Amino acid sequence: MSKELNNIKKICVIHGPNLNMLGHRDKEQYGNLTLDKLNKKIRMFATELGLEISIYQFNSEEKIIKTLHRSRKLYHAVIINPAAFTHYSYAIRDAIELLTIPVVEVHLSNIYEREDFRQTSVTKEVCVKQFYGKKENSYTDALKFLHDLLNKSS
Ligand code: DQA
Repeated sequence: MSKELNNIKKICVIHGPNLNMLGHRDKEQYGNLTLDKLNKKIRMFATELGLEISIYQFNSEEKIIKTLHRSRKLYHAVIINPAAFTHYSYAIRDAIELLTIPVVEVHLSNIYEREDFRQTSVTKEVCVKQFYGKKENSYTDALKFLHDLLNKSS
């Protein structure tokens, strides 16, 4: 492997529960985007930035936590949309907190302009940054942010 390839930054993207149902969810909040379309955009933008990407979607808290644990040794950073877990999962918060790699929280919708219960994020404080309200661009903004951050620190 060339030196340059060795230097490629690896990002893990984790989509939380019900995001596999995009396209069948509230169109006002999530538009017509399907998970497939969203993942294509993420992959295209990551390629433009020269980032290597792995994408997962889980409906269970346990699988999200196991993937966060594994990401310690496998990736340079994580982008997570914890979906509804954002609002109450201290277990996911703890799993993010123990990581030494940067974790960015993203949301398609503007959680701060929705129901009261969505306006609390228990995971935000243990993430380096939060992007929300820009649909797929919340993810591409997160990729750009991590690209700049990881290039600064290498
Ligand atoms: C979401 C917002 C959450 O409140 C909701 O439970 C989701 C998706 C978003 O991306 O806007 O499932 O995280």
